[in-house]
Amino acid sequence: MHLPAFSSLLAWVGAIPEATAPDEAVKNVAIIGAGAAGASAAYHLQRFAAEEDVAVNITIFEKTDRIGGRTLTVNALDNPAEPIELGASIFVTVNHILLNATRDFDLPLSTRSEGTPGDLTAIWDGERLVYQSTEGSSWWWDAAKLFWRYGTSPYRAVKLVNGVVGKFLKMYEEPWFPFRSLTQRVFELELEKITGVTGEQFLQQNQINHDFSREIIQAATRVNYASNLAYIHGVETMVSFATDGAVSVAGGNWKIFDSMVEHSGAALYRNATVSSIALDAKKTKTGAPRYRVSTKNTANLTALAEGYPVSFDKIIVASPWQFSNITAGEDVIRATIEEIPYMKLHVTLFSSPYKLRPGFFGLEDGAKAPSNVYTTLGADEEPRMGAAGVGRTGFYSISTLRRVVNPKTEKREYVYKIFSPEPVTASFLSDVLGVNVPEGFTTGSSSSPISWYRPAWFHSYPVELPRVTFQDPVVGDGVYYTSGMEGFISTMETSALMGMNVARLIADDVAGVERTAEGRRVEKEDKEAATGDEL
Ligand SMILES: Cc1cc2nc3c(=O)[nH]c(=O)nc-3n(C[C@H](O)[C@H](O)[C@H](O)COP(=O)(O)OP(=O)(O)OC[C@H]3O[C@@H](n4cnc5c(N)ncnc54)[C@H](O)[C@@H]3O)c2cc1C
Ligand SMILES: *[C@@H]1O[C@H](CO)[C@@H](O)[C@H](O)[C@H]1NC(C)=O
Ligand SMILES: *[C@@H]1O[C@H](CO)[C@@H](O)[C@H](O)[C@H]1NC(C)=O
Ligand SMILES: *[C@@H]1O[C@H](CO)[C@@H](O)[C@H](O)[C@H]1NC(C)=O
Ligand SMILES: *[C@@H]1O[C@H](CO)[C@@H](O)[C@H](O)[C@H]1NC(C)=O
Ligand SMILES: *[C@@H]1O[C@H](CO)[C@@H](O)[C@H](O)[C@H]1NC(C)=O
Repeated sequence: MHLPAFSSLLAWVGAIPEATAPDEAVKNVAIIGAGAAGASAAYHLQRFAAEEDVAVNITIFEKTDRIGGRTLTVNALDNPAEPIELGASIFVTVNHILLNATRDFDLPLSTRSEGTPGDLTAIWDGERLVYQSTEGSSWWWDAAKLFWRYGTSPYRAVKLVNGVVGKFLKMYEEPWFPFRSLTQRVFELELEKITGVTGEQFLQQNQINHDFSREIIQAATRVNYASNLAYIHGVETMVSFATDGAVSVAGGNWKIFDSMVEHSGAALYRNATVSSIALDAKKTKTGAPRYRVSTKNTANLTALAEGYPVSFDKIIVASPWQFSNITAGEDVIRATIEEIPYMKLHVTLFSSPYKLRPGFFGLEDGAKAPSNVYTTLGADEEPRMGAAGVGRTGFYSISTLRRVVNPKTEKREYVYKIFSPEPVTASFLSDVLGVNVPEGFTTGSSSSPISWYRPAWFHSYPVELPRVTFQDPVVGDGVYYTSGMEGFISTMETSALMGMNVARLIADDVAGVERTAEGRRVEKEDKEAATGDEL
């Protein structure tokens, strides 16, 4: 059913009337950014265009040297056989775009999980452990057994999650898909009642036990969105807790987006920072605007920007606008793209032969060392927004990603990941590992307590404050924007969904697909029948 792009292009070119200039038969589409959103937009646009038998020519500009954006791996201990996720690490089985892609591109799923049975997972409030489990990846479900403590709240929380996920999944299907207004869809699906309140309010409204919210659910919003329940909206709170069937791609989740770009047939420019988008003086014959983009080589941003020689009919901006550093006039971006606060998250990966010190977390030294520590606020702590919200613990989570054998020392080591609002310090690591970690973290000698150290930081996701309106995906005449999705839900899947959505809007536009006010497609036969009636 899905013809390769070139055969549909030939079919189209063969059918065009003489009068149409060849350059207008093919719609040129520029995609800025090759993360989840841009890669999905390219892949789905190619598919939708083939289905509609229209020709598109896709060009992707990517600032970095790689595909994936916030989805990327690094090699633990600099060993290419040990790639680990530095950015987005898991997705779930209801993430249909990502899961379908792993099936369609034959990408094996990773069996390594962050929790192995027997490993101790704990939640720490800065003074004591409020929760412990050795149930591996189903650690939090283990909390359901604590009936005396949490009552039926765990079960009811899962029902709430399923309710929200069920509504969200409608966004993939007609008449809710595609959508020109995210705000409208959120209202139609009655999700604005949940995005409009904090996680704390939503859980309270639904009589979820306060201790369960603070001790278990808040640990989830902190590890997933670096946020306390008082500063994250209800839908994103539910997303944090929807970790059923968490999976990842062996070798790195970025492979999904790499395969998408490859299968889209798009021309990809790496190291190409788009610096401006401008209206082309020449419109199409039908009077539609065309756009020119200018790029710089990322390795030399001081050099003058160069105008790209092709004019584009459609532009997809697939990166948060406020960090893209693109200049565009009001004749290009007609809507105001709102600047929203993003979290600045530090992600620290390192390898050490030392386990976490039980005493650090208020356990007796000699007790079993925890493998994964999530955090929450103490009962006496005031929740705060952003970085200050981390509270007494100073970090959101420490996880053991994997056990490796260091080839240099032949010793067993643990590869850890820490999420924190500030850079990790040597004195913190000394305390948490119970060994003197030098200021430079690694010494290079075989007795170094840390053999490999890789700090990074990201504008990871927005501060997900309650809201009922969202940045819509159409921001100009033929200009589309994907990152408005992140104020609603920020995940690889939702960015990919927005990419697929703008791809569908473009395919509809190019193919002249009409939809009813409800969003249902008006089929050609219906149109012909309707016209017939009139005659
Ligand atoms: C540490 C961390 C952990 C996370 N964990 C998870 C998780 O477990 N599961 C999950 O689903 N999500 C997770 N997320 C969120 C997820 O990574 C993002 O929601 C998603 O990847 C965003 O994709 P995107 O394509 O919208 O944006 P991005 O990935 O940011 O892609 C934008 C792309 O545009 C490029 N670009 C920007 N400006 C320009 C320009 N001027 N010219 C050319 N190119 C440009 C950038 O280089 C980048 O490649 C995590 C994020 C972080 C940072
Ligand atoms: C298609 O896009 C490529 C890459 O940008 C460009 O080189 C080529 O000229 C375009 N083709 C047409 C027909 O516009
Ligand atoms: C995923 O694949 C299934 C089975 O082929 C299909 O029915 C569904 O529409 C696909 N979903 C998406 C989002 O591609
Ligand atoms: C991109 O830039 C990096 C660093 O400057 C360089 O190593 C790499 O070869 C470049 N890649 C391309 C495709 O130009
Ligand atoms: C960057 O570009 C400027 C202007 O074109 C040039 O003079 C300079 O040599 C370039 N620098 C590098 C490192 O290529
Ligand atoms: C943004 O662009 C301006 C102008 O081109 C440049 O001076 C500045 O260094 C850029 N900033 C970043 C973060 O790339």
